[in-house]
This record gives sequence, C-alpha cells and structure tokens, in this order.
Amino acid sequence: MAFNDTFLRACRKQPVEHIPVWYMRQAGRYQPEYRKVREKYSLMEICEIPDVCAEVTILPVKQLNTDAAILFSDIMIPVKAMGVDVDIKGGYGPVIANPIKEMADVTRLRELDPEGDLPKTMETIRILKRELEVPLIGFAGAPFTLASYMIEGGPSKNYYKTKQMMYSAPEVWNALMDKLGDMIITYMKGQVAAGAQAVQIFDSWIGSLSPSDYRQYVFPTMKRIFEALKEIDAPTIYFGINTGELLTVWKELPVSVIGVDWRVPLDSARERVGTGFALQGNLDPALLLAPWPVIEQKAKEILDMGMAHPGYIFNLGHGIFPEVQGETLRKLTEFVHQYSVSKLK
Ligand code: CP3
Repeated sequence: MAFNDTFLRACRKQPVEHIPVWYMRQAGRYQPEYRKVREKYSLMEICEIPDVCAEVTILPVKQLNTDAAILFSDIMIPVKAMGVDVDIKGGYGPVIANPIKEMADVTRLRELDPEGDLPKTMETIRILKRELEVPLIGFAGAPFTLASYMIEGGPSKNYYKTKQMMYSAPEVWNALMDKLGDMIITYMKGQVAAGAQAVQIFDSWIGSLSPSDYRQYVFPTMKRIFEALKEIDAPTIYFGINTGELLTVWKELPVSVIGVDWRVPLDSARERVGTGFALQGNLDPALLLAPWPVIEQKAKEILDMGMAHPGYIFNLGHGIFPEVQGETLRKLTEFVHQYSVSKLK
C-alpha cells in the first residue's frame, strides 16, 4: 500500500481526497489488547520497550483505519528525564513526589538530550517510521500544562498553586516557562529528526486562564516555541480544552493547526482565528457513548463546518474514554471518510 499523506496535506491546507481522521487517546484502555499489555507492564514500562511501544502505537491505526498515528508516550516522560520524580497512576494521572516551590527547584531541572535521555522513545520512533503507512505525530505537553502538574504535584481542579506562583513569583514562573520551553523545542526537534512527521503540543489545562493572563504569562513562551519549530519540516498542532476565549490570542501564534474542543462550533472557531490555520476537532468524546444515529448526525454537522475551508482534520474535542467501544470508532472513521469523499468530489 502507498504511504497515506492525507493528514499532512490537510495540516498544510492542501487539497485532499477525503478528510483525514485520528483520535486523541486512540491507544488506550478502551482496547482489550491494550488492557492486556497493561496487565503485564506499567505505562512507563511500555515506553521503555520499543517493540511493545511501537505495537501499541500501530494497533489503533490498523483497527480504526485512522490517517495518522500518535506516538505512545506521555507528556510527563521528558519531565521525568529532567530530574523530576514522576509516577503516572492509571485512572488518576501524573503524581509528583517533590513539587516545584521555589527558584532552586527550577534551577535543578536538567536540560533534555532526547537521544541521550530518552533513547527508547527515539528508537520507537525509528521503528514506527519504518513500519507505518500513515504519518507519525510526535508530541509534548505545553509549558503551562506541564507546570501545573509540577507545581500542584498531581491533577488539579482550580490550579491555585500554579496561579499563585504565576502571580506572586513571576521570576520563578518565567524561569520555569523558559526551561520547559527549551525542553519542548529540543524534544520536538529530536522527535522529528528520528522520524515524526508532525508534532502536537498538548496544553490540556490552559483553559483555566483568562485571555489577558494567557497573554502575559504564557503567550511569549508559546510564541518562542512555535517560532523555533518553524525550522523543522513538520506541521505543528496546538490543542487545549476550554480554549474558546483564548482563540483570539492563539491566532497570533505561528502554528499550522489549531485543535478545537467541542464547546466551540468550528465555524465560530474559524471566525475567531481566520482562515490562516488548519483546524482539528471536535466531536464531544461523550457522544461516542450515544446511539449511532446521534453520533452520525453530529459528525455530519461538524464535517460540514470543517470542510467549508481547506485544512480540516477530524478528531474528538478531547481523548477517548475507556468505556467506548472500538467498533463505534471504526464506524465513525469509515463514515467520515465516505461522507467527505462524496462531498469533496
Ligand atoms: O493514543 C494516545 O493518545 C496515547 C499517547 C498519550 C498518552 N498520554 C498515554 C496515556 C498521550 C498523547 C498522552 C498525553 C497526555 N498525558 C495529556 C494531554 C492530552 C490529554 O488527554 O489532555 C495529559 C494531560 C497527560 C497526563 C495524563 N496521563 C493523564 C491526565 C492521564 C489520565 C489518567 C487516566 O488514567 O485517565 C494519564 C495516563 C495515561 N497516559 C493513559 C494513557 C493511555 C491512561 C491509561 C493507562 O494508565 O494505561
């Protein structure tokens, strides 16, 4: 089979024959095969065994017929390599033994050397580059989202400690943003050099900031990251949830694709960011538990809005829940492909 580059063309707003599809958390606990691997290995252990890690990455592409693969890893893996004691607890999230409190904790963070510190991840990418017939998406967490775990010590609802540092100790906050920004640039360049063909920056929890705070405390680092990534020959994607109000600031970022969550209709997202970006999203992941006709109707509405301009990638507004049936996702991919082929003719 020929290499399917539809996803990359959509990222670049070039013509496509069908709308490309992939799903956030397409490798995960909704798959019986993944649960079986997890009985044997922890998430971190999977990331240390390239054959298994590559297999877990490829499985959803085969099962669901997606147009892209996403590296199996976690946003906290490079943070661990920077010297932070991180554990990832299934059903809960990342846990950090010694949260960041002061400048000395930031100074102590090591610079990342992707090949030296994460050789197994880089080897996994090289295996995937050889075996996949669709593009591989590499990824990193964004500075705010990573900092929120590093400061709170685990998942949070209100991000009080994170914001407290941001407002009360801006020199510590800025030093942390700088260090994480450097790490992300180096890591993304390393992943692309090893074979990743696009990169997604996950800023899952950024929606907790107002647009003015985002502009003041986070935007400069995001701008620096995406400016630096213009050097690599790979489209960049920026995603977060609850970002409706931030889109008017995001439109100033030199990023290729903007990920939209399900709260913002794609036509409103286009109005807010203009037509300079490709868009990705945004079916509410909860809809995957609805009866098929309801899913199909919503997918159709989203596709009609998404296909109104060149540069659209179908995805969910956030990750797949463990309760979802793989068959529902397979059917959804098939529907998006068939419906979009007929519309694009
Ligand atoms: O197909 C894929 O998307 C797999 C690769 C992947 C994982 N995590 C594996 C994983 C990716 C891209 C991530 C990103 C990630 N990790 C984000 C950003 C995306 C998002 O979902 O918002 C965040 C915030 C994390 C931190 C993290 N890791 C959380 C919040 C959790 C969830 C806790 C839970 O169990 O629901 C994890 C654990 C995690 N990372 C799982 C997977 C497949 C859960 C399953 C397991 O423990 O095996």
